[in-house]
Amino acid sequence: MLATSAAAFADGHGHGHGDPDKGAKDFNKCKACHTIVSDSGETIVKGGKTGPNLFGVVGRPVASYPDFKYGDGILAVGATGMVWTPELITEYAVDPTKFIDTHGGSGRSKMTFKLKDASDVVAYLATFSDAPEAMEATEEESGEAMEEMPAEEAPASE
Ligand code: HEC
Repeated sequence: MLATSAAAFADGHGHGHGDPDKGAKDFNKCKACHTIVSDSGETIVKGGKTGPNLFGVVGRPVASYPDFKYGDGILAVGATGMVWTPELITEYAVDPTKFIDTHGGSGRSKMTFKLKDASDVVAYLATFSDAPEAMEATEEESGEAMEEMPAEEAPASE
């Protein structure tokens, strides 16, 4: 199901899957409901207030933006201690309600929006976080990267 993003990942592109420049355009679809406002209060993308500020969302605990009233479903996911990684946000954007279901919450998402391939926009969002590359390297919750290790060709050099 996520074969395309896995392929892009294996493409020799050291920095993960998405293209932040394309993602900046894709964010036009998100800004109806989301702003990007830096910690110092600088507005990077002016947007709607239906959803939480997405500045620094990569690396931020799920459902933790102080000034936003989240739905019960995503709050339950946040209560598991989950932190947003690029992979998780990509999965979330495809189907927020299903995401809540899969990750320990229940109930409908308040985000009534779906984007089939959010990898570019997530790469864009990651540019507003301290260590996007380090975040991409985290493996929690992703069982997809396994196939990339051909068992036979393991380098003997270590
Ligand atoms: C129709 C309005 C709307 C649109 C469009 C929308 N969102 Fe959301 N988004 C929300 C709402 C509302 C929430 C809070 C969800 C909840 O409380 O269940 C949310 C939550 C989120 C969260 C979780 C944030 C957190 O603090 O845990 C992320 C990540 C997110 N949206 C990303 C996106 C991206 C990326 C796009 C564009 C591809 C997008 N959203 C488009 C309304 C929207």
